[in-house]
Amino acid sequence: MADFLEFYPLRTHNTFGFDARARLAVHIRNESDLVSALSDHRIDNLPIVVLGGGSNVVLTGDLDACVLLMEIPGYDVAEDDASWLVTAGAGETWHGLVNRTIDEGMPGLENLALIPGTAGAAPIQNIGAYGVELRERFARLRAYDRQSGDFVTIDLDTCAFGYRDSLFKREGRDRYIITAVTLRLPKAWQPVLNYGELTRELEGVSTPDAAQVRDAIVAIRSRKLPDPAKIGNAGSFFKNPVVDASLRNALLADHPALVSYPQPDGSYKLAAGWLIDQCGFKGVDDGPVGVYGKQALVLVHHGGGTGAALLALANRIADAVQAHFGVRIEPEPVIL
Ligand code: EPU
Repeated sequence: MADFLEFYPLRTHNTFGFDARARLAVHIRNESDLVSALSDHRIDNLPIVVLGGGSNVVLTGDLDACVLLMEIPGYDVAEDDASWLVTAGAGETWHGLVNRTIDEGMPGLENLALIPGTAGAAPIQNIGAYGVELRERFARLRAYDRQSGDFVTIDLDTCAFGYRDSLFKREGRDRYIITAVTLRLPKAWQPVLNYGELTRELEGVSTPDAAQVRDAIVAIRSRKLPDPAKIGNAGSFFKNPVVDASLRNALLADHPALVSYPQPDGSYKLAAGWLIDQCGFKGVDDGPVGVYGKQALVLVHHGGGTGAALLALANRIADAVQAHFGVRIEPEPVIL
């Protein structure tokens, strides 16, 4: 029998720190906890919401749902000729996993250091930072398929990873519950140093090792992203919009300082933080919610506010960017 908690407070389960309650919640510490929770008739008419670290969600109110608090531990290393294959339970913290692999001599995740959240949540939005995306280090994952009632293995191609996107944000959203993730860390390691800010941070270090790259990333992130333990936030609140070359060129003609990055398919990614900054929102507070002063892409909650108020601010920002640049920016976190 699953151990359901009623009207469970979620404030410490979302990094924005919004006060919201779940009609039911249950700690999932292993796969059998998951099976028994999902087969319990008490949740028959309730939607299921899966929460890892709660670092990429906006709770807009109480959830008339059953929240699965994913806390499955686990760490296992296998290898083939070319790679280390590291499997982590869905509930392991991502940064803890990055540190452990580096400490154990398996580099590869250093550019993804200090990203909040859990290993199980990492594939959902294909976390990425400083020139590396999860999909480049991903082998497979294990998930419970609510359609078939079986545990399944899902490989790299099936995950259909894109920029901050995957199967699990689309068709797979209410179908799969990730219980473990296996990463592929090539033994022939090369640091990825093509991100300008990272190169500058490592100036003077001729051949940095993975720990040095990790430390540089931690330093950069700590300088410009708020620590969720101190200020409620979910990292980048908006995705960087991707536009075709003609629109980007037209914008560049009007705004010579426009920040844009060419994509392999000829399109351009625009820096949403720059667009928002230009509209004058950086560091602007609207009561208990606001825009972070050092990075306009990050929305913050100072306490006592609601997810609904934050979303209203996000809409005002997106409207202003649209009015000014003719580009719609979309939220990155999952809105619940
Ligand atoms: N910029 C401004 N004003 C701002 C913010 C940014 O002018 O207020 C400019 C910067 O000067 C820079 C450009 O915009 O020229 C891009 O900024 P930055 O390098 O900080 O990266 P980002 O595009 O804002 C993305 C990811 C981050 C990731 C960094 C590093 C998205 C939505 N965000 O941010 O991911 O850490 O690159 O790779 O793709 C996250 O997803 O939560 C996250 C933090």
